[in-house]
Amino acid sequence: MAKQFEEKKFNIPKLKGISEKTIEEHLKLYAGYVKNANTMLEEKEYNRRFSFEFNGMRNHEIYFSHFEGGSTPLTTGSPLLQAGFDLEKFKTLALTRGVGWAMLVWDPVSKQLLNNWVDEQHLGQLNSCIPILALDMWEHSFVADYQPSGKKQYIEDFFANLNWRQVEENFSNATQK
Ligand SMILES: [Fe+2]
Repeated sequence: MAKQFEEKKFNIPKLKGISEKTIEEHLKLYAGYVKNANTMLEEKEYNRRFSFEFNGMRNHEIYFSHFEGGSTPLTTGSPLLQAGFDLEKFKTLALTRGVGWAMLVWDPVSKQLLNNWVDEQHLGQLNSCIPILALDMWEHSFVADYQPSGKKQYIEDFFANLNWRQVEENFSNATQK
């Protein structure tokens, strides 16, 4: 019998721009990914949508954990910047049309950070790479608070709410693997 995935709990403070209601509804969607991934583990026939549910679960776990501990700034001495991370380029990537994720990943083979767009939850995930930063660009993450036209402001507020120390910790953990 396969091990079941656990629904994680997040301690998310009050955020700038992104309402408690949006977070509450968004966490319900996350719980659905965990539930569906678990259901698929038990099915006799292999389900080809497993990667959608699994990555939907993991992507959201990274996203919500970014808010934990409250906002901290990206400083000039950040190891992310020293490793070549370009925030403005990442913001441009996040404006990619369609639903999906803007992601910063660590490639343990070439030992470098890569920016990458993932369609839906799973299309375009880079093999062997470890996610460091994940920005949900599905409309459910911002439309109730920002309207479709407010995508840019949502991206700005996401970074204003971000705990950069947590992202740096992801980076440190990834590079030690
Ligand atoms: Fe989402």
